[in-house]
Amino acid sequence: MSFAHRHLLGIEALGPSDITAILDLAEKYVDLNRGEAKHSEELAGLTQINMFFEASTRTQASFELAGKRLGADVMNMAMQTSSLKKGETLIDTALTLNAMRPDLLVVRHPQSGAVDLLAQKVNCAVLNAGDGRHEHPTQALLDALTIRRAKGRLHRLNVAICGDIAHSRVARSNILLLGKMESRIRLIGPPTLMPAGIREFGVEVFDDMAAGIEGADVVMMLRLQKERMDGGFIPSEREYYHRYGLDAQKLALAAPDAIVMHPGPMNRGVEIDGEIADDINRSVIQEQVEMGVAVRMAAMHLLAQNLRVARFRERARA
Ligand code: NCD
Repeated sequence: MSFAHRHLLGIEALGPSDITAILDLAEKYVDLNRGEAKHSEELAGLTQINMFFEASTRTQASFELAGKRLGADVMNMAMQTSSLKKGETLIDTALTLNAMRPDLLVVRHPQSGAVDLLAQKVNCAVLNAGDGRHEHPTQALLDALTIRRAKGRLHRLNVAICGDIAHSRVARSNILLLGKMESRIRLIGPPTLMPAGIREFGVEVFDDMAAGIEGADVVMMLRLQKERMDGGFIPSEREYYHRYGLDAQKLALAAPDAIVMHPGPMNRGVEIDGEIADDINRSVIQEQVEMGVAVRMAAMHLLAQNLRVARFRERARA
Protein backbone atom coordinates (compact mmCIF):
# COMPACT_ATOMS: atom_id res chain seq x y z
CA MET A 1 0.00 0.00 0.00
CA SER A 2 1.55 3.31 -1.05
CA PHE A 3 0.64 6.59 0.58
CA ALA A 4 3.67 8.83 0.99
CA HIS A 5 2.19 11.99 2.46
CA ARG A 6 2.74 13.90 5.66
CA HIS A 7 -0.63 15.68 5.59
CA LEU A 8 -4.00 15.32 3.91
CA LEU A 9 -4.64 18.89 2.76
CA GLY A 10 -6.48 18.25 -0.48
CA ILE A 11 -7.15 15.84 -3.31
CA GLU A 12 -4.92 17.94 -5.56
CA ALA A 13 -1.69 16.43 -4.15
CA LEU A 14 -2.89 12.82 -4.39
CA GLY A 15 -2.39 10.35 -7.21
CA PRO A 16 -4.77 7.57 -8.22
CA SER A 17 -2.75 5.01 -6.21
CA ASP A 18 -2.99 7.19 -3.06
CA ILE A 19 -6.74 7.38 -3.50
CA THR A 20 -7.03 3.64 -4.03
CA ALA A 21 -4.85 2.96 -0.98
CA ILE A 22 -7.17 5.01 1.26
CA LEU A 23 -10.32 3.45 -0.18
CA ASP A 24 -9.02 -0.11 0.08
CA LEU A 25 -8.02 0.36 3.71
CA ALA A 26 -11.36 2.07 4.40
CA GLU A 27 -13.17 -1.07 3.22
CA LYS A 28 -11.52 -2.95 6.09
CA TYR A 29 -12.77 -0.31 8.51
CA VAL A 30 -16.30 -0.57 7.12
CA ASP A 31 -16.23 -4.23 8.19
CA LEU A 32 -14.80 -3.36 11.60
CA ASN A 33 -17.46 -0.67 12.14
CA ARG A 34 -20.23 -3.10 11.27
CA GLY A 35 -19.03 -5.58 13.88
CA GLU A 36 -19.80 -5.70 17.58
CA ALA A 37 -16.45 -4.48 18.91
CA LYS A 38 -15.45 -1.47 16.82
CA HIS A 39 -11.98 -1.00 18.22
CA SER A 40 -8.51 -1.15 16.79
CA GLU A 41 -5.26 0.10 18.34
CA GLU A 42 -3.79 1.81 15.30
CA LEU A 43 -3.65 5.25 16.95
CA ALA A 44 -3.12 4.04 20.54
CA GLY A 45 -1.05 6.55 22.50
CA LEU A 46 -1.51 9.29 19.90
CA THR A 47 -3.33 12.57 20.46
CA GLN A 48 -5.83 13.93 17.94
CA ILE A 49 -7.07 17.50 18.23
CA ASN A 50 -10.10 18.64 16.24
CA MET A 51 -10.09 22.39 15.57
CA PHE A 52 -13.30 23.53 13.91
CA PHE A 53 -13.39 27.26 13.19
CA GLU A 54 -16.68 26.76 11.37
CA ALA A 55 -19.85 24.94 12.40
CA SER A 56 -19.98 21.24 11.64
CA THR A 57 -22.10 18.35 12.79
CA ARG A 58 -21.31 15.27 10.81
CA THR A 59 -17.72 15.96 9.82
CA GLN A 60 -16.62 16.71 13.38
CA ALA A 61 -18.57 13.79 14.86
CA SER A 62 -17.17 11.52 12.17
CA PHE A 63 -13.54 12.50 12.83
CA GLU A 64 -14.10 12.17 16.59
CA LEU A 65 -15.57 8.70 16.29
CA ALA A 66 -12.89 7.65 13.81
CA GLY A 67 -10.11 8.70 16.20
CA LYS A 68 -11.75 7.03 19.20
CA ARG A 69 -12.30 3.76 17.34
CA LEU A 70 -8.60 3.74 16.48
CA GLY A 71 -7.65 4.25 20.12
CA ALA A 72 -6.41 7.87 19.97
CA ASP A 73 -6.94 10.44 22.71
CA VAL A 74 -9.32 12.85 20.98
CA MET A 75 -9.92 16.43 21.98
CA ASN A 76 -12.44 18.81 20.42
CA MET A 77 -11.65 22.51 20.54
CA ALA A 78 -14.70 24.74 20.13
CA MET A 79 -12.84 27.36 18.13
CA GLN A 80 -15.77 29.63 17.46
CA THR A 81 -16.03 30.47 21.13
CA SER A 82 -12.34 30.36 21.92
CA SER A 83 -9.47 32.80 21.98
CA LEU A 84 -9.95 33.70 18.32
CA LYS A 85 -12.77 35.85 19.58
CA LYS A 86 -10.21 37.51 21.83
CA GLY A 87 -8.10 38.41 18.82
CA GLU A 88 -5.54 35.63 18.74
CA THR A 89 -4.32 34.85 15.24
CA LEU A 90 -4.69 31.46 13.60
CA ILE A 91 -0.94 30.92 13.73
CA ASP A 92 -0.67 31.74 17.43
CA THR A 93 -3.49 29.33 18.18
CA ALA A 94 -1.76 26.69 16.10
CA LEU A 95 1.57 27.20 17.86
CA THR A 96 -0.13 26.96 21.26
CA LEU A 97 -1.77 23.69 20.32
CA ASN A 98 1.44 22.44 18.77
CA ALA A 99 3.15 22.89 22.13
CA MET A 100 0.71 20.35 23.56
CA ARG A 101 2.30 17.82 21.20
CA PRO A 102 -0.64 16.54 19.20
CA ASP A 103 0.01 13.88 16.58
CA LEU A 104 -2.99 14.55 14.36
CA LEU A 105 -4.64 17.91 13.86
CA VAL A 106 -8.01 18.02 12.11
CA VAL A 107 -8.86 21.53 10.96
CA ARG A 108 -11.88 23.24 9.42
CA HIS A 109 -11.62 26.93 8.61
CA PRO A 110 -13.79 29.43 6.67
CA GLN A 111 -10.80 30.74 4.69
CA SER A 112 -9.40 28.93 1.66
CA GLY A 113 -5.74 28.14 2.24
CA ALA A 114 -5.82 28.54 6.03
CA VAL A 115 -5.27 24.84 6.67
CA ASP A 116 -2.24 24.67 4.34
CA LEU A 117 -0.75 27.65 6.14
CA LEU A 118 -1.28 26.04 9.51
CA ALA A 119 0.30 22.78 8.35
CA GLN A 120 3.53 24.65 7.70
CA LYS A 121 3.73 25.78 11.33
CA VAL A 122 3.22 22.54 13.21
CA ASN A 123 5.08 19.24 13.43
CA CYS A 124 2.24 16.79 13.34
CA ALA A 125 -0.01 15.42 10.61
CA VAL A 126 -2.73 17.86 9.51
CA LEU A 127 -6.03 16.81 7.95
CA ASN A 128 -8.15 19.37 6.14
CA ALA A 129 -11.78 19.06 7.22
CA GLY A 130 -12.82 21.82 4.80
CA ASP A 131 -11.22 25.20 4.10
CA GLY A 132 -13.45 27.90 2.62
CA ARG A 133 -14.32 27.10 -0.98
CA HIS A 134 -11.05 25.30 -1.53
CA GLU A 135 -11.01 21.60 -0.57
CA HIS A 136 -12.71 19.02 1.60
CA PRO A 137 -10.65 15.92 0.80
CA THR A 138 -12.22 13.42 3.21
CA GLN A 139 -15.67 14.28 1.83
CA ALA A 140 -14.53 13.50 -1.73
CA LEU A 141 -12.93 10.27 -0.51
CA LEU A 142 -16.06 9.14 1.32
CA ASP A 143 -18.10 10.01 -1.75
CA ALA A 144 -15.71 7.96 -3.87
CA LEU A 145 -15.99 4.98 -1.53
CA THR A 146 -19.78 5.22 -1.64
CA ILE A 147 -19.76 5.39 -5.46
CA ARG A 148 -17.24 2.56 -5.80
CA ARG A 149 -19.33 0.29 -3.56
CA ALA A 150 -22.55 1.10 -5.44
CA LYS A 151 -21.16 1.01 -8.98
CA GLY A 152 -18.20 -1.34 -8.61
CA ARG A 153 -15.75 1.17 -10.11
CA LEU A 154 -14.71 4.83 -10.24
CA HIS A 155 -13.76 5.11 -13.92
CA ARG A 156 -15.98 5.76 -16.92
CA LEU A 157 -18.96 6.89 -14.87
CA ASN A 158 -21.11 9.88 -15.73
CA VAL A 159 -21.27 11.95 -12.59
CA ALA A 160 -23.57 14.97 -12.43
CA ILE A 161 -22.77 17.49 -9.69
CA CYS A 162 -25.65 19.92 -9.30
CA GLY A 163 -26.26 23.20 -7.59
CA ASP A 164 -24.06 25.71 -5.83
CA ILE A 165 -20.72 24.78 -7.39
CA ALA A 166 -19.15 28.20 -6.88
CA HIS A 167 -19.18 28.08 -3.09
CA SER A 168 -18.54 24.37 -2.74
CA ARG A 169 -15.30 22.82 -1.54
CA VAL A 170 -17.12 19.49 -1.82
CA ALA A 171 -17.58 20.05 -5.56
CA ARG A 172 -13.99 21.12 -6.01
CA SER A 173 -12.51 18.08 -4.24
CA ASN A 174 -14.91 15.75 -6.06
CA ILE A 175 -14.06 17.24 -9.45
CA LEU A 176 -10.35 16.69 -8.76
CA LEU A 177 -10.83 13.15 -7.46
CA LEU A 178 -13.23 11.91 -10.11
CA GLY A 179 -11.06 13.46 -12.82
CA LYS A 180 -7.99 11.62 -11.52
CA MET A 181 -9.99 8.38 -11.49
CA GLU A 182 -11.14 9.00 -15.09
CA SER A 183 -14.83 9.55 -14.67
CA ARG A 184 -16.76 12.12 -16.74
CA ILE A 185 -18.06 15.09 -14.82
CA ARG A 186 -20.98 17.35 -15.65
CA LEU A 187 -21.63 20.40 -13.57
CA ILE A 188 -25.20 21.69 -13.46
CA GLY A 189 -26.33 24.99 -12.00
CA PRO A 190 -27.25 28.59 -12.73
CA PRO A 191 -24.39 30.61 -14.28
CA THR A 192 -24.30 32.77 -11.12
CA LEU A 193 -23.29 29.68 -9.11
CA MET A 194 -20.69 28.40 -11.59
CA PRO A 195 -17.07 29.39 -10.85
CA ALA A 196 -15.25 31.26 -13.62
CA GLY A 197 -12.79 29.16 -15.64
CA ILE A 198 -14.23 25.87 -14.39
CA ARG A 199 -14.12 24.32 -17.88
CA GLU A 200 -10.33 24.17 -17.55
CA PHE A 201 -10.88 21.27 -15.17
CA GLY A 202 -12.12 19.16 -18.07
CA VAL A 203 -15.76 19.19 -17.06
CA GLU A 204 -18.95 19.79 -19.03
CA VAL A 205 -21.12 22.66 -17.84
CA PHE A 206 -24.93 22.85 -18.06
CA ASP A 207 -27.42 25.42 -16.87
CA ASP A 208 -30.31 23.23 -17.92
CA MET A 209 -30.90 20.42 -15.44
CA ALA A 210 -32.71 18.11 -17.90
CA ALA A 211 -29.80 18.23 -20.36
CA GLY A 212 -27.16 17.80 -17.66
CA ILE A 213 -28.72 14.93 -15.75
CA GLU A 214 -29.57 12.80 -18.79
CA GLY A 215 -28.15 9.30 -18.43
CA ALA A 216 -26.06 10.17 -15.35
CA ASP A 217 -24.90 7.23 -13.21
CA VAL A 218 -24.43 9.39 -10.15
CA VAL A 219 -26.41 12.50 -9.22
CA MET A 220 -24.68 14.52 -6.53
CA MET A 221 -26.74 17.39 -5.13
CA LEU A 222 -25.12 20.28 -3.26
CA ARG A 223 -26.47 22.54 -0.56
CA LEU A 224 -27.14 26.18 -1.39
CA GLN A 225 -24.41 27.74 0.75
CA LYS A 226 -26.36 30.77 1.86
CA GLU A 227 -23.77 31.67 4.49
CA ARG A 228 -21.20 32.24 1.73
CA MET A 229 -23.53 34.39 -0.40
CA ASP A 230 -24.06 38.09 -0.16
CA GLY A 231 -27.32 38.18 -2.07
CA GLY A 232 -28.32 38.09 -5.73
CA PHE A 233 -27.22 34.59 -6.65
CA ILE A 234 -30.70 33.10 -7.11
CA PRO A 235 -34.05 34.75 -7.83
CA SER A 236 -35.86 32.86 -5.04
CA GLU A 237 -35.66 29.44 -3.38
CA ARG A 238 -38.97 28.50 -5.01
CA GLU A 239 -37.68 29.31 -8.45
CA TYR A 240 -34.41 27.56 -7.68
CA TYR A 241 -36.22 24.38 -6.63
CA HIS A 242 -38.30 24.51 -9.77
CA ARG A 243 -35.24 24.71 -12.04
CA TYR A 244 -32.53 22.84 -10.13
CA GLY A 245 -34.15 20.98 -7.24
CA LEU A 246 -33.97 17.21 -7.64
CA ASP A 247 -37.48 15.77 -7.87
CA ALA A 248 -38.81 12.49 -9.30
CA GLN A 249 -39.42 14.03 -12.70
CA LYS A 250 -35.84 15.23 -13.16
CA LEU A 251 -34.36 12.07 -11.66
CA ALA A 252 -36.29 10.00 -14.22
CA LEU A 253 -33.92 11.43 -16.89
CA ALA A 254 -30.84 9.94 -15.23
CA ALA A 255 -29.77 6.32 -15.74
CA PRO A 256 -32.39 3.91 -14.35
CA ASP A 257 -29.96 2.73 -11.67
CA ALA A 258 -28.54 6.18 -10.87
CA ILE A 259 -27.68 6.83 -7.24
CA VAL A 260 -28.51 10.08 -5.45
CA MET A 261 -25.96 11.72 -3.16
CA HIS A 262 -25.82 14.77 -0.89
CA PRO A 263 -23.00 15.68 1.51
CA GLY A 264 -25.41 17.18 4.04
CA PRO A 265 -26.73 19.19 5.66
CA MET A 266 -29.71 19.19 3.27
CA ASN A 267 -32.18 21.94 2.53
CA ARG A 268 -35.21 19.79 1.78
CA GLY A 269 -37.48 21.41 -0.76
CA VAL A 270 -34.69 23.75 -1.93
CA GLU A 271 -32.09 21.57 -3.68
CA ILE A 272 -33.73 18.18 -3.15
CA ASP A 273 -37.19 16.73 -2.64
CA GLY A 274 -37.40 15.11 0.79
CA GLU A 275 -38.95 11.92 -0.55
CA ILE A 276 -36.07 11.31 -2.93
CA ALA A 277 -33.55 11.97 -0.18
CA ASP A 278 -35.28 9.28 1.92
CA ASP A 279 -35.82 6.75 -0.89
CA ILE A 280 -33.57 3.86 0.09
CA ASN A 281 -33.70 2.49 -3.45
CA ARG A 282 -32.08 5.61 -4.92
CA SER A 283 -30.49 7.65 -2.17
CA VAL A 284 -27.11 6.69 -0.65
CA ILE A 285 -27.03 9.68 1.67
CA GLN A 286 -26.95 7.59 4.86
CA GLU A 287 -24.30 5.33 3.34
CA GLN A 288 -22.17 8.42 2.71
CA VAL A 289 -22.24 9.19 6.43
CA GLU A 290 -21.27 5.61 7.26
CA MET A 291 -18.39 5.67 4.74
CA GLY A 292 -17.22 8.94 6.28
CA VAL A 293 -16.13 7.27 9.50
CA ALA A 294 -14.32 4.45 7.67
CA VAL A 295 -12.53 6.80 5.26
CA ARG A 296 -11.36 9.05 8.10
CA MET A 297 -10.08 6.02 10.02
CA ALA A 298 -8.14 4.94 6.93
CA ALA A 299 -6.69 8.40 6.31
CA MET A 300 -5.59 8.84 9.91
CA HIS A 301 -4.16 5.32 10.01
CA LEU A 302 -1.98 5.98 6.94
CA LEU A 303 -0.84 9.41 8.16
CA ALA A 304 0.02 8.02 11.60
CA GLN A 305 2.12 5.32 9.98
CA ASN A 306 4.06 7.92 8.03
CA LEU A 307 4.43 10.06 11.15
CA ARG A 308 5.95 7.17 13.08
CA VAL A 309 8.42 6.44 10.29
CA ALA A 310 9.40 10.12 10.01
CA ARG A 311 9.95 10.40 13.76
CA PHE A 312 11.96 7.19 13.85
CA ARG A 313 14.23 8.57 11.11
CA GLU A 314 14.60 11.87 12.95
CA ARG A 315 15.62 10.07 16.14
CA ALA A 316 18.09 7.91 14.23
CA ARG A 317 19.68 11.02 12.76
CA ALA A 318 19.91 12.82 16.09
C1 NCD B 1 -20.16 20.19 3.49
C2 NCD B 1 -19.16 21.22 3.96
O1 NCD B 1 -19.15 21.59 5.13
O2 NCD B 1 -18.39 21.63 3.13
N1 NCD B 1 -20.74 19.45 4.49
C3 NCD B 1 -20.07 18.40 5.06
O3 NCD B 1 -18.89 18.44 5.30
N2 NCD B 1 -20.79 17.31 5.31
C4 NCD B 1 -21.12 20.73 2.55
C5 NCD B 1 -22.03 21.82 3.01
O4 NCD B 1 -21.82 22.44 4.03
O5 NCD B 1 -22.98 22.08 2.26
